[in-house]
Amino acid sequence: MSRRTLIVGNWKLHGSLAESLKLVTAIKHQTAELTHLDMVLTPPFTALYSVSVALSDTHIALGAQNLFHEDEGAYTGEVSGVFLKELGCDYVIVGHSERRQYFHETDLGVGLKVQAALRNDLTPVVCIGESLAQREKGEALEVIAKQLKGIFQNFTLHDLESGEVAVAYEPIWAIGTGKNAEPEQIAEIHHAIRSWLTRYFDAPAADRIRILYGGSVKPENAAALLQVKHVDGLLVGGASLNAAAFVKILKSA
Ligand code: PGA
Repeated sequence: MSRRTLIVGNWKLHGSLAESLKLVTAIKHQTAELTHLDMVLTPPFTALYSVSVALSDTHIALGAQNLFHEDEGAYTGEVSGVFLKELGCDYVIVGHSERRQYFHETDLGVGLKVQAALRNDLTPVVCIGESLAQREKGEALEVIAKQLKGIFQNFTLHDLESGEVAVAYEPIWAIGTGKNAEPEQIAEIHHAIRSWLTRYFDAPAADRIRILYGGSVKPENAAALLQVKHVDGLLVGGASLNAAAFVKILKSA
């Protein structure tokens, strides 16, 4: 099955309103002809509305970096999928390793967020990946399987089919380190992810899921990473904050 390439720029905690608009303006003017792939920008919550307006005449989609698992209620400080959808989001990153590390998110909690995203017609970009210590101990495959099981444990095939899901494999040791994973390592894990999804759900459902690679993606390595077997797209952190670099990455797809 051929899946459309998906490239997501994760701005993390960067992007004042002025910076965000400058970045979006530069990106949108250089990508108008790129209609053969799905491009997504994920600014911080505070810039979502203005970026949404700026993107309205483009085919670049908007995404958020997180959401809460309930739609509304007495949850001070949280933002729900309902509100993200209202702002024009179509995507949301869920379970990024920085959220797991600094905000103690668990696989079960990530699963609830994936449900919340699907309920609100948002495509969750579900992040998984092993640490350096786990990789060195030869546990990468086991860790990935455990994360998938933890996230999807309460999912039925019907839940998965109710919307679109993307999975991002981001080895923690490759995030922001300048050290991307080797093609063989990426191919092995991506293949294992799709096999796990096929066994747990079924082949057609697993086939629809785009599996992205993330971790030190740069203009210099993007084309090669996209050539790796089983890679359907990229999740880009640092390089997505530089318009020229991000546009080069988009153009390499
Ligand atoms: P990086 O971040 O591209 O800066 O390594 C990737 C990510 O955290 O999504």
